Amino acid sequence: MTAAPAIRLTGVGKQYAADGPVVLDGIDLSVAPGEFACLLGASGCGKSTLLSLIAGLEQPSTGTIEVDGRAAVMFQEASLLPWLSARRNVELALRFGDAGLARPARRARALELLDLVHLADAADKRPHELSGGMRQRVALARALAQDRSVLLMDEPFAALDAITRDLLHEELERVWRETGRTIVFVTHNVREAARLGQRVLLMSSRPGRIVNEWRIADDGPRRIESPTVSELSVEITEHLRREIRRNAA
Ligand SMILES: Nc1ncnc2c1ncn2[C@@H]1O[C@H](COP(=O)(O)OP(=O)(O)OP(=O)(O)O)[C@@H](O)[C@H]1O
Ligand SMILES: [Mg+2]
Repeated sequence: MTAAPAIRLTGVGKQYAADGPVVLDGIDLSVAPGEFACLLGASGCGKSTLLSLIAGLEQPSTGTIEVDGRAAVMFQEASLLPWLSARRNVELALRFGDAGLARPARRARALELLDLVHLADAADKRPHELSGGMRQRVALARALAQDRSVLLMDEPFAALDAITRDLLHEELERVWRETGRTIVFVTHNVREAARLGQRVLLMSSRPGRIVNEWRIADDGPRRIESPTVSELSVEITEHLRREIRRNAA
């Protein structure tokens, strides 16, 4: 790794309350610029906490966090403003973004971003007129509108059916290749992590630590049902089960 990392965590720990549990402990992690890292772990292990720390929404109890600029965040729920069209939702992010574009430029840029997620035709529809998958695509366009080099995604496709999710994996991967963003993608779906990531980071629970890591050769897009993804998923699931069992004991 020659360039400075886009994200660097050193000895990061998190305890929400002094008498509460240690949620995260001793997390050391570097993510290179343009890297796609998936963070995988059981429910409650601290994935969202780690993402909030990287986003600066929460402060670590110990350790340091360095991020290349501020990060954009995308959550499981699209949380679009219901009274605004898809385009206006994206425009709003541009308005509060760093770019400082004038209104006509914001409008043009919003359409470009909606086109990037294949939603140009639905630009004038309001959220309730869109499917769940379409709403998440608007949310992705909105996250990209913030024009940050680091994009943090917290189970953004968890509520979608498998076929829609599959489609959005393809779109996200294409957008990632086209825009060169650094992505940290949180999921508890092993296949999703193995499908998307160049790296898969496995977290333990109580306390949350990074206990394993897989690097996946990037030979271009891979399908979720491909042998590569299946074999890796079997191996990762084995480790994840061990973590869950260890924690239950
Ligand atoms: N704001 C908060 N205040 C106090 N405790 C919190 C807060 N947010 C999370 N926690 C606790 O921290 C632990 C980790 O929660 P977190 O949401 O980070 O897990 P997660 O891995 O994202 O889980 P899931 O997969 O279910 O989304 C949990 O025990 C949770 O109760
Ligand atoms: Mg979470």
